[in-house]
Amino acid sequence: MLATKRILLIIGGGIAAYKALDLIRRLRERGASVTPVLTRAGAEFVTPLSVSALAGEKVFGDLFDLTDEAEMGHIELSRSADLIVVAPATADLMAKMAGGQADDLASTLLLATDTPVLVAPAMNVRMWQHAATQRNIATLNADGIGFVGPNEGDMACGEFGPGRMAEPLEIVAAAEAALSGGPLVGKRVLVTSGPTHEPIDPVRYIANRSSGAQGTAIARALAALGAEVVFVTGPADVEPPEGVEVIRVQSARDMMEAVKAALPADAAVFAAAVADWRIKSASDSKLKKTKHGLPALEFEENPDILATVSLLQDGRPGLVVGFAAETDDVIVNATAKRDRKACDWIVANDVSPATGIMGGSENDVTLITDAGAEDWPRMSKAEVAAKLSARIAKALA
Ligand code: C5P
Repeated sequence: MLATKRILLIIGGGIAAYKALDLIRRLRERGASVTPVLTRAGAEFVTPLSVSALAGEKVFGDLFDLTDEAEMGHIELSRSADLIVVAPATADLMAKMAGGQADDLASTLLLATDTPVLVAPAMNVRMWQHAATQRNIATLNADGIGFVGPNEGDMACGEFGPGRMAEPLEIVAAAEAALSGGPLVGKRVLVTSGPTHEPIDPVRYIANRSSGAQGTAIARALAALGAEVVFVTGPADVEPPEGVEVIRVQSARDMMEAVKAALPADAAVFAAAVADWRIKSASDSKLKKTKHGLPALEFEENPDILATVSLLQDGRPGLVVGFAAETDDVIVNATAKRDRKACDWIVANDVSPATGIMGGSENDVTLITDAGAEDWPRMSKAEVAAKLSARIAKALA
């Protein structure tokens, strides 16, 4: 998807600039050409020599480099690319973009361009959360600027929170999506995945055998079609895909909260294997063996996330897709589940041990909609994901 594409990479001034070096490699590995622009502050973090050596091209640094007729003018430079990537995008650079300022080469290019722009913000958590930055983000969103990240985590400044630049492979995936102009560009889709862990005490929990493979494949396939994907995952065996917003949760109640916070969305796919029950009062300290034998565990019901979202009066996604993992009477049970949970579609599958589906790489599903039950041939989970995503794109078109 990136082969022969021309990327103009603007490297802003932040400690995350070192990741831009790896980003250049990753983009070139996929056949893209990278024309680098290093801001004055960016050059304090990485040298023009490293950047040009990796890009295999001259580094543009200063607006006045371009006054020579023999050089490429800034207008041409800004328009000769298929995509402009700003990584890291500092709070200052984003403020300039939002305000339409053009006082150096990077900001001038961003104002002069008519090509799509993808920014990968990186800054201290307080700077990210500041009302001014949030205002600028809203403006940039409204201007059609694409975002990848920031991620949450430990920061170079010693604080923790949102503000870490997305990893190079996430930026690559977002660049691919931006260039693919897929049918889900501009659509926001929520995907839940994986098992949940319901605590018994600080060291023990109740779980299930879900690997998260099908939900992860669906999130990846939706992102590849250009969707902005919010991926709410329990503690799964497989790594979340690149290029999606990942929200990690443990219990069903955490998942419910994360899902509510992630709405609104155009569509929601509930592929998680949510525990139906939790321990009524999980112990704060480790349960000990007693001479009275096993401690009695009292259960209470978890919220049904799929049903809750399907029944929302306000802010229900336009398309809600549930899953039904059954061991017998798959279609009858799944059809009843679709009615009971008020979702639009149910992806039903037989998870009897003999099928090898739970934890395996293939799936055998029946899609249940208001038009009836549609049996799909057995195929890989990635193919199920691609087929389902294409159907979602058609439904949202
Ligand atoms: O009732 P059952 O667990 O078989 O329903 C499966 C569907 O409901 C899946 O889409 C699953 O993600 C969703 N679900 C949920 N919250 C629960 C239980 C199931 O969202 N507490």
